[in-house]
Amino acid sequence: MKMDIPVIDFSTLNGDKRSETMALLDEACQNWGFFKIENHGIDTSLMEKVKKLLVEYYEENLKDGFYKSELAKKLEKQEKISDQDWETAYFIWHHPKSNIKEIPNISEELCKTMDEYIAQLIQLAEQLSELMSENLGLEKTFIKKLFSGANGIGPVMGTKVATYPQCPNPELVRGLREHTDAGAIILMLQDEVPDLEFYKDGKWVEIPPCKNNAICVNTGDQIEVLSNGLYKSIVHRVIPDKDGSRLSVASFYNPSNDAIIAPAPKLLYPSHYCYGDYLNLYGKTKFGEKGARLEAIKNMVNGHGRTI
Ligand SMILES: [Fe+2]
Repeated sequence: MKMDIPVIDFSTLNGDKRSETMALLDEACQNWGFFKIENHGIDTSLMEKVKKLLVEYYEENLKDGFYKSELAKKLEKQEKISDQDWETAYFIWHHPKSNIKEIPNISEELCKTMDEYIAQLIQLAEQLSELMSENLGLEKTFIKKLFSGANGIGPVMGTKVATYPQCPNPELVRGLREHTDAGAIILMLQDEVPDLEFYKDGKWVEIPPCKNNAICVNTGDQIEVLSNGLYKSIVHRVIPDKDGSRLSVASFYNPSNDAIIAPAPKLLYPSHYCYGDYLNLYGKTKFGEKGARLEAIKNMVNGHGRTI
């Protein structure tokens, strides 16, 4: 089924509509896990160039090999495939260390274009991490600091470049099987082929193609954990296309490998308090706000007035 996913217009973040936009982003993170960003500040001609060069790279270096692979042969025999994906994919790491020059046959032009794109994308990812932190009631730099790891290297930035080649029997194989993303904030650049689906309210929903170079964002497992389950990482999949191939450039803003991940303490309920203490406080605050009462109990447990 088709459904419009939330569209967040970043050009409204500095004006009168800021609080509306922030509320929309918060709602998208809580109830959707997928949304689009428009007016994100990334040079759209650069985005077009990235897509063009990556499609050329696929055509020149990967396409023939893919159709000669065991996987393609199996499909020719009309076998159902449930343990492999109908995709060609490779990873490019950008930060802390770039491996882009190690990609076989990559051109200088593609390296340069990709580096320029990622430099702009990192700014967008950081902006998004700050806005999410703010929406969660946390310090603006909370997510960035949490992801920076023991050595302060900073969050990891990488890209999975995937092509889902034209497929003669899409009913026999997935482009990419159902999964959630391990990392944190995933920013996708896609072409016009609409084969990405996510699971919402018991149904698979097709993500419409990102027109006008909007960036499609989804949140991974680490965002769900750090937000104590308030923000969700959503199951998604790719269905291969009978009529054409699809390019997906998914860049991820992830924790450093040595980052220690935990729910933000501020988002946790108080725990291990004595009910009598709660009742005492309740007697004084019954007609006040519950959130403030829970916060006061948390402070008590953290060493101020705990009786157990
Ligand atoms: Fe994914």
